[in-house]
Amino acid sequence: MCGIVGYVGSEPAGPIVYGGLENLDYRGYDSAGVALVEEPLTIAKRTGEVSELEVPGAPGATCGIGHTRWSTHGPPTDPNAHPHTGQTDEVAVVHNGIIENYESIKEELQEAGHDFSSDTDTEVIPHLLERELENGHDLLSGLETVVDMIEGSYAIAAVRAGHDRIVATRHESPLVVGHGDDASFLASDVTAFLDRTRDVTYLEDGDIARLEAGSVTVYRDGDVIDRDVETVEWDADAAEKGGYEHYMRKEIHEQPTALRQTLSGRVDVERGGVDLDVAFPQGYLESLEEIQLVACGTSYYASQYAAQLLEEFADVRATVDIASEYTFDGGRDPWRTLVIAVTQSGETADTLGAIRRAGGAGARTLAVTNTLGSSVTRETDDALFIRAGPEIGVAATKTFASQVTTLALLAADIGRQRGTLAATDAREVLEHLRSLPGAIQQVLDEEARVVAGAEQFVDADAFFFIGRQFGYPVALEGALKLKEIAYDHAEGFAAGELKHGPLALITDETPVLSVLTEGARPAETLNNVTEAQAREAPAVGVTDGTVETDSLDLTLEVPEIGALTPLVANVYFQLFAYHVADLQERSIDKPRNLAKSVTVE
Ligand code: G6P
Repeated sequence: MCGIVGYVGSEPAGPIVYGGLENLDYRGYDSAGVALVEEPLTIAKRTGEVSELEVPGAPGATCGIGHTRWSTHGPPTDPNAHPHTGQTDEVAVVHNGIIENYESIKEELQEAGHDFSSDTDTEVIPHLLERELENGHDLLSGLETVVDMIEGSYAIAAVRAGHDRIVATRHESPLVVGHGDDASFLASDVTAFLDRTRDVTYLEDGDIARLEAGSVTVYRDGDVIDRDVETVEWDADAAEKGGYEHYMRKEIHEQPTALRQTLSGRVDVERGGVDLDVAFPQGYLESLEEIQLVACGTSYYASQYAAQLLEEFADVRATVDIASEYTFDGGRDPWRTLVIAVTQSGETADTLGAIRRAGGAGARTLAVTNTLGSSVTRETDDALFIRAGPEIGVAATKTFASQVTTLALLAADIGRQRGTLAATDAREVLEHLRSLPGAIQQVLDEEARVVAGAEQFVDADAFFFIGRQFGYPVALEGALKLKEIAYDHAEGFAAGELKHGPLALITDETPVLSVLTEGARPAETLNNVTEAQAREAPAVGVTDGTVETDSLDLTLEVPEIGALTPLVANVYFQLFAYHVADLQERSIDKPRNLAKSVTVE
C-alpha cells in the first residue's frame, strides 16, 4: 500500500502535493518523493517519512505528482523511492501496487539497452512510456498502450516534462480524482485533498484519466465516458479511516484486498506451482529435518496455524515457540533446521532475540514479515513479505490473515519442491487460497449479524473460544482480540481440553464461541459445545454446514475452503471482538497498556 498524489491548477504545485502526501503518510512512510512539471522535470525523493522530504521551490510549476512508499519490491532506499523516470527523464511515474510481470519486461528493455537505477517493479513503467512517446504516442495513448503490457494491481500517475497535465489509471488499487475551481486533484484516497475540494470521482478499474487545470476527462477503451461526481461528507479523520470509525474495523474490511496483494503473482493454479522470492540453496529442502517457527502475540497464533500446514504439505516436523521462551536445539547439523521468525513489524525484540540465537547456533533463518527493511530482515538469511500494507490498529487483524496465507504458500512451495505435495493436491490448495478473499468478503457482508451477537453478549462475565486442529489457533487468536481491545476476560482452548478443567468456569454468563468447520474437526468440537450447553453456557458457532447447529444460540456461516476455512471463521471473531469493544466505548485502536511494536525484551 503506497500513497499517490497529483495536482494540476494555477497555484505552485510543490506545497499542494507535499500537503497531500502528509495526509497520506498512514499509507506508508518508507520514502517520499515529488515530480514537478517544468522543462526538465524537477524531482526530489528520499527515504524516510514525508516530513524528511524537502520539496524544491519551483514556483513556476503548477502541475506535479507525489508518492509515499510502503515497500514491496526493493528495500526502502533513495533510488527505490518514487517518482521513477526512464532513460531520458522525459516522464515521471508514481505507482501503488505490484507489477507482476516486471521481470520479463525489465529483461527485454535491458536487452534493448535501457539502464535501470532501482530494484522496483515500478521502474519499467516510465521506460515503457518513454518508448511509446518515441513511437509517436502522447502521454495518454502511451499509457493506454503500456497498460496492455503490464499485469498486476496498480494505480499509476504519470507526468511529462513541459506538459501541464497528469494521466492516470488503475486496476485493483484505489484512485480518486478531485474537482476544484480551476484545479484538478488525484490521490489514492480523498484524505489527500479534502482540505481543497470535496467533489470527487472514484475511478474504476480500466479507466484512464487525463487531468488538466480545472478539467478531468475519463477514457475507457479509447472513448470518453461520464463518471459521477460525488460530494464527500466525511471529515478528514474519518476519511483517513476510509469512513470507518476505527482503523481496526477498516483493516478488518481490508482483508480481501490485502490477501489479493499477498497472493499476487505468487500462485500458478494450473501448474500447481508457487512462485516466492525465496530461493533455498540447491538440495537444502531435501536435507531439511525440521522447521521451527518463533513469534509473539498474534504472529505466534498465525505460526501455530502454519506449522500444521507445513507438516501436512511439506511432510517435515514443524514446531512453534513463543519467541521469549525459545532456545535453539537443532541436533547435530543445525543447518538442517530452518528457523522462521514470523513478525508483522519485523522489530519485536523477543523475536529478534530468538532468531539471533538460532542464526548464531548455525541454523538457516527466514523472516516472514510485513515490513521491508525492518530489523528482522537484516538478521536472517532470507525474507518473505506478507504484503498486507500498513496496519495501524494495535490489535493485528489483516496481518494475521496475510501471515497464514504467506506461510501456506511457503508450505505448498516446500511441499512441491520436496515432492511431498502432489500437483493435484497443490492445485486444490491454491484454488482454496485464491478463493480466500471472496470467502472473507462473504463474512464481512454478514457484519450486522455479528453486531446483534455482540449486543446480546456484551455483558457476559467471560468468553471462551474453542476449536480443534486449525480451529485451535483461531480460538486462541479470537480470545486474544477480545482481551486486547474489550478488556474482557477471554480464553481460548483446544476444544477437547474444556472438560479437563475450564468446564468448571462455565455458567449461563459465559458464552462459548466455537469453530465448527472443515479443518477444525467440527463433529468432535460440537460435542464439546454440547457439554458447555449442558452447563447452560450460551453457544455461538461458526459453521460451514458440515454439522447440525440448530441448538446453538447464534450460528455464523462461512463457505468451505478446506484447511483455510478456520481462517475465514477468524474474521467473525475479529468482528465480534471489535463490536463488543465498541459497545463498551473502548479505545479500540490504542488499547491501554499495549503497543503495536514491542521493542524491549
Ligand atoms: C505486540 C502487539 C501484538 C503483536 C505482537 C507481535 O504485542 O501488540 O498485536 O501481535 O506485538 O508483533 P509482531 O510485529 O512481531 O508481529
